[in-house]
Order: sequence, then structure tokens, then C-alpha cells
Amino acid sequence: MRRIAHISDLHFRRVDPAVVEGLLAELDHDRPDLVIASGDFTMRARTREYEEARAFLARVTAPVLAVPGNHDISPYRLWQRFFTPFRRYRRYIAPETEPVFQDEEIAVIGLNTVRTWAPERDWSQGKITRAQIRRTERVLAALPPHLFRIIVGHHPFIPPPWDAEARLVGRADEALAAFQRHHVGLALAGHLHRGYSRFVMPTPSGAARAEIDRSEAQTTATRLLAVQAGSATSTRLRGNEPNAYNRITVEGGVATVQVRLWTGSGWCDAAAAGSARCASDEADVTGPPAPP
Ligand SMILES: [Fe+2]
Ligand SMILES: [Fe+2]
Repeated sequence: MRRIAHISDLHFRRVDPAVVEGLLAELDHDRPDLVIASGDFTMRARTREYEEARAFLARVTAPVLAVPGNHDISPYRLWQRFFTPFRRYRRYIAPETEPVFQDEEIAVIGLNTVRTWAPERDWSQGKITRAQIRRTERVLAALPPHLFRIIVGHHPFIPPPWDAEARLVGRADEALAAFQRHHVGLALAGHLHRGYSRFVMPTPSGAARAEIDRSEAQTTATRLLAVQAGSATSTRLRGNEPNAYNRITVEGGVATVQVRLWTGSGWCDAAAAGSARCASDEADVTGPPAPP
């Protein structure tokens, strides 16, 4: 079994310190085998923001696989943006922008969907090139067949249930088709600061692109599940969604995704929010209250 924490859109300089500490406490308690971070570590790619992100990552004991987000390259220093866009990212977060993690049970492939410019006003949108798709297919084809395969990028592969026209990562459909050809089970992303999940292929019951309860979902390598994470620590929340991250377990070729929500004092399963189970879940991590 493998246990993964999928965190996204941390946005250092605009974080809630209590949530940051709560997330570190939860990760320390859970001891996942891997933390996957799907970009936007900073707000404006400033050095001090990267230093804060680095300090956070230094306190995470699990291995971290990260990809950059659009906020991780400078919006102001155009020389830097065009010629060395990921220099600070590589220095403070990870040397690779498209890392690959592989062990005896899972393989995780990172895709850098950030673009330094675009022929339109909004440069924050992401894209996947055909070369990236080919490279990803080569990596997938070379993997041992029994590994559960996971892809992660920053920009969304699927639209939210409430906005079918939402802007997706460029070439999302081509990329998803390639992932399906190579039996990828999960495609993870962030950027929208909203959590939702959706099967990309028709389900066995015949319900094409079925939407699922966002609080918990299961999938296998024969059904590609695209999963969006909310913002784990940022105060830039959207749609009244609290901070959140995804707790993923992979066992026997089946992945289970649980959304973990910040309640103000701890984290609990989205399905249990507001219940007694939620309160005991939080107490598990934070420990008994200190004696008066
Ligand atoms: Fe973000
Ligand atoms: Fe973003």
C-alpha cells in the first residue's frame, strides 16, 4: 500500500500560518510515503516567498514530488521570466520541473504546464506541448506494467462541474487520451483553488464522464480519474471552499481519494465535516488539550 498527500497552491506570503502548522502536524502524524505538490508555491516568485516555501518543505519528512505553477515564475522581471524562468524554483523547490518518482507500487510523472508567455493577454494559462506528451508516453511505456500510474501538473485537465467552459490546460484532451492509452489511473492538478474529481472515461456502468462525490472516490488503472485539489494553505480561497488537500491511498491497484478539509482547528474528511468523527479525527492529530 502507498499513502500519498496531494497538496497544491500553497502561495507563500499569502498563507494562514495556523493552516500551515496544521498541515505540517497532519503530515507528521500521517507519515505518507510521498507528498505530491502541484504548483503555486509562491505569489510572485520573490526570493523571500521561495525561502518560506523552502522552510515549509524542509519540515516535511516524506519525499516530495513537485511541479511548478504559474505563480512560481516572475510576473515583473521579464528578462528573468523569458530566459531563466525556473532558476529560483530549481534552487528552492526542486532541481527538476518534470520529476519522475517510481517505487515497487506506484509511478508518478510530473508535467510542467507553466508557460512564460502566450499570444494572448492572460499569461497565467498553462499548456502541454506535443513533445511533453510524447516524452510522457515514453516514460509510461517503459514502466513495469503492475505499477499504478499517476500524472501531476498544475493547470486543470477537467472543468469544474459548475463551469463546463472553464479554461483547461492546453491540449488537455490529447494528454488525457495519451494517459488512458498507458493506463494512468490518476491525473492530479490544482490552480483553480477548487476541489473536484471526475472520471475521464465512461465508467463500467456506462455513465460517461460521471461526476462523483468530491469527498471520496476510488479508481483503478482502467478508469482515469482526474482530481483537482483546493488550496492547502493559502488565504486566496475561492467559492467559499476551505483549505483542503487530497489524501490518496493506492492498494492492490485501486486508488482511493479522500478530500481533507481544514475546519479552523484541524483537518477532517469532507464526508465527515461537522460530525463527531471529525472532532475525534482532529484530536488524533493535535493531541489532547493541554492541562490548564
Ligand atoms: Fe494558485
Ligand atoms: Fe495557478
